[in-house]
Amino acid sequence: MAKITVSSCAEPEVQKSVDVFSPTEYTTMLIGFLQENADRVADRAVCEIGTGNGVIAMQAAVLGARSVTVSDVEQDALDAVSASFSRLGQGPTEFSCLNGPLWQPHGKRRYDVILANLPHFPTPSLTLPGRLPTWSMGGADGRKMLDPFLEGLTGHLAPGGLAAFTHNRFVGIDQTRTFLEARGMSLQTCCETIVHLSPLKVSALTHGPDGYGPDVFTLGNHVFGRVCLAIASWT
Ligand SMILES: C[S@@+](CC[C@H](N)C(=O)[O-])C[C@H]1O[C@@H](n2cnc3c(N)ncnc32)[C@H](O)[C@@H]1O
Repeated sequence: MAKITVSSCAEPEVQKSVDVFSPTEYTTMLIGFLQENADRVADRAVCEIGTGNGVIAMQAAVLGARSVTVSDVEQDALDAVSASFSRLGQGPTEFSCLNGPLWQPHGKRRYDVILANLPHFPTPSLTLPGRLPTWSMGGADGRKMLDPFLEGLTGHLAPGGLAAFTHNRFVGIDQTRTFLEARGMSLQTCCETIVHLSPLKVSALTHGPDGYGPDVFTLGNHVFGRVCLAIASWT
C-alpha cells in the first residue's frame, strides 16, 4: 500500500507590526476640509496640535502653507513626522516641530489656520488595541483637552484666521459654541458624519450608549456616534 506523505506547510508569517498613529475617518475629515478650502491655506501660517501621523499638517504644506508648526506629546510621532516632512517635495518654507501638551510649546505664536483632531472620547479610561493611551481618551466628559484647546484659541488665532477641529457631537457641540461666543468667536459646523463605535469604546463610554441622546444611537448590536468638523473664527 502506497504511503501518502502529507507535508505540512509552515503558516505564512503574519505581519504584526501596527502603526499606532494610523489615520482615521476623523483625520480624513480635516484633510477633505483643507482640500476644499485650499485658498484659506496657501501662504498662511498653519499649526496642528496633536499631529500624530502628521498627514493633516502635510496636506496643508502640499497646499502651499507659508509655515507649518506641529506639536504632540509623543516624541516618536514627532520624529516620524519630521522625517516625512523632510521627504516632502512641496515642503513649506518653514517647518517647526514642538513637543509638549496643547498650547504649552507654542509660546505666544499666532496662526492663520489652527487644526486639531484631539483625544475627546468621553471616558475616564480607555486604551484601544494598537493605539497609545494618549490617542483618544478625553476624560469623563470628553472635554479634558477640548476646553483648554478652546481657551487657548483666543491667544493663538490670528485676526481673520480660522480653527478647524473634529468634534464628537456627543461631547457638547452647543457647549463649545457657547464657550467660543463668550470669547468673541463664532462656530460653524460642517462635514457631518457618523462613525461606528467599537464594542470596546462603547463599554468605556462614561454614560453608556443610551446616555448621550440622539448623537449616540444603536442599530441592532452596533452603536454609532455623530461627528462633525467645528470651524471657529473671530466675529
Ligand atoms: C486622535 S489622535 C489624532 C492624530 C492625527 N492628528 C490624526 O488626525 O490622525 C490625537 C493625537 O493627539 C496627541 N495628544 C494627546 N494628548 C495631547 C496633548 N495633551 N497635547 C498635544 N497632543 C496630544 C496624541 O499623541 C495623538 O497623536
